[in-house]
Amino acid sequence: MADAPKSFFVSPEIHAYLLAHGTPPDPVQQSLIEETRALGGISMMQIAPEQGAFMTLLARAIGARRAIEVGTFTGYSALCIARGLADGGRLLCCDVSEEWTSIGRRHWERAGVADRIELRIGPAAETLRALPEEELFDLGFIDADKEGYPTYFEEILKRLRPNGLVLVDNVLWFGQVANPEANDPSTLAIRAFNEKVAHDARVDRVMLPVADGLTILRKR
Ligand SMILES: C[S@@+](CC[C@H](N)C(=O)[O-])C[C@H]1O[C@@H](n2cnc3c(N)ncnc32)[C@H](O)[C@@H]1O
Repeated sequence: MADAPKSFFVSPEIHAYLLAHGTPPDPVQQSLIEETRALGGISMMQIAPEQGAFMTLLARAIGARRAIEVGTFTGYSALCIARGLADGGRLLCCDVSEEWTSIGRRHWERAGVADRIELRIGPAAETLRALPEEELFDLGFIDADKEGYPTYFEEILKRLRPNGLVLVDNVLWFGQVANPEANDPSTLAIRAFNEKVAHDARVDRVMLPVADGLTILRKR
C-alpha cells in the first residue's frame, strides 16, 4: 500500500500506479520512510519517494560529483542524491537538527554512502557563507525554512558551475501559492521566491508538479 500522495494533483490510485512504475524505494530507503513516519505529523517534511528517485536519476544524468543540500531532516533526499553521485562524489548537507539528522546518519551508513556525505549542523546561511566563493557544486537542493530560500539560492548559485542545477522543493506549497486568500509567512515567502527566479536572467527554469512542486534551475 503506497503512502498518501504528497501531490494534491494526484489521486491515491494514480500515485500508487506511478510508484509501481518507477524505481521503488530499496529496503534501506523503506526503513527510513518507516522510521520517519513513526515521528508523527512532522514526517510530512520528508520528500516523496518518486521525487527521491527523480533526484537520483537527475544527479546521475548530469554526472554530478559535488552536491549541496539545504534541509536534510532524517536524510531521505540526501540518501537519494548521494546514490546518484559519480564515483568519488561528495554531498554537503546543512541542517540545524542533530536529532533528526542522526536518523539519516544511521541509514547512510547502512546504504554505504556515509563516506560521501558531510553534515554541517548550524543555520544554513552561515554554513553557506563560510564556503569559498568558487565553483564548488554541480547540483544543489533547497528544502529548508521557506523564508531562507532566496539566501540559499544566491549563496548556492555563486558556487555552482555553469550548467549546474539547483532543485527547489515545495514551490507549490500544497497549492497555496495560487490561492489569493493564503497569506501566511511561508506562502508569501515561496510566492516571492518563485517570482524572483521567474525573472532571473542567470538561470533557465522549469516548475514541475512533482510531489509538492519542484523547480529545476539551470545556471546559464
Ligand atoms: C522539509 S525538511 C527537509 C526534508 C528532507 N529534505 C528530506 O528529504 O527528508 C526541512 C529541514 O530544514 C531544517 N532547517 C530549518 N531551518 C533551517 C536553517 N535555518 N538552516 C538549516 N536547516 C534548517 C529543519 O531542521 C528540517 O530538517
